[in-house]
Amino acid sequence: MTIRMAFTGTGHISRVHARAAQAQEDVELVAIVNHREESMADFAAQFHIARQYPNIEALLADGGVDALSVNTPNYLHAPQSIAALQAGVHVMVEKPMALNAEEALAMQRASQASGAKLMVAHCWRFDEEVSWLRAQVKSGQLGDILRTKGHGVHVNWGPGGWFTDARYAGGGALADMGIHAIDVARCLLGDPQPTSVYARISTDYTQGDVDDSGTIWINWANGASSIIESGWWWPHADGPEASTQLYGRRGWGQLFPTRLEIPDREAATVSTIDPGFPPVREDHCPQIMYDRQLAHFINCIRADKTPVPGAAEGLVNMRIVDAALESSRNGSLVSLL
Ligand SMILES: NC(=O)c1ccc[n+]([C@@H]2O[C@H](COP(=O)([O-])OP(=O)(O)OC[C@H]3O[C@@H](n4cnc5c(N)ncnc54)[C@H](O)[C@@H]3O)[C@@H](O)[C@H]2O)c1
Repeated sequence: MTIRMAFTGTGHISRVHARAAQAQEDVELVAIVNHREESMADFAAQFHIARQYPNIEALLADGGVDALSVNTPNYLHAPQSIAALQAGVHVMVEKPMALNAEEALAMQRASQASGAKLMVAHCWRFDEEVSWLRAQVKSGQLGDILRTKGHGVHVNWGPGGWFTDARYAGGGALADMGIHAIDVARCLLGDPQPTSVYARISTDYTQGDVDDSGTIWINWANGASSIIESGWWWPHADGPEASTQLYGRRGWGQLFPTRLEIPDREAATVSTIDPGFPPVREDHCPQIMYDRQLAHFINCIRADKTPVPGAAEGLVNMRIVDAALESSRNGSLVSLL
């Protein structure tokens, strides 16, 4: 079955997803939506897309689309996704899935009501090193995971434009980068529910009206806890984006560089398990990760399966972000039970 795919937004990530769509079997790139005609024409020419629309309503009125990739500024994620889902079009929406958990819930309900699938593009779940570490956790190599430590931080760099304007982005580094680290930690732990969140969120390095620094403590229903750092323009980070460490009862594991250390207390030795990934990647966010992500979306449509990460996972991440902001405002631990 050929899947006819459309895209909203013609910026950086939309091009990544369009390349991923071109790499799939039997996926046709049929339409593009953007309010800026020039960049839309350029995108359409690059990807041989025939139909161009100034807004989502015009696209949906015309029909002839099975799936939509939503790649616009964050404030448009919920309205564009909901419009498509209500029209029976399957949606893969970029992270953060919405401005807040309330919008995310409305998106989940729209998907449940129409039966159209909703996937949230938490891309790191499709990274081979994340998959390897998840498999080690699942096999019990590290014992129960008690603590995780991870971050989504840009060192000596930060985005500009709409990313730093609360009207369009909702939040700053936490919604942009921290959410990656939150999702990676949760995925590695086997998707437990969060029970409470404590956070300090601030704007330390930039002039905009959104956060550029955060430290978040998440307690999970399985007894584990996670420390997450989010940042733009930080002078240092403990590794590249989405790096996460796992402290298990039997050993320690890490992403980027990815390896395990399993101590033998009696022998006073530590064995390192190195899966052989390059210590530093040429491209930290490689196209293949996005190709695998889109393949999952397309497979879920064809096989009538619920995408993971889908609305459920995206919504949990938004609840954590909302709770972190609330905790930081009030200086209190926020319960999510
Ligand atoms: N998963 C990842 O690795 C990753 C990486 C980058 C960005 N993202 C996410 O993707 C989304 C887009 O980010 P980006 O870096 O591509 O931003 P960008 O600024 O490069 O692109 C945004 C696009 O949306 C378009 N746009 C704005 N208003 C519109 C409207 N009303 N209708 C249609 N199009 C409109 C802009 O013209 C632009 O083409 C964000 O939510 C961001 O968080 C994810």
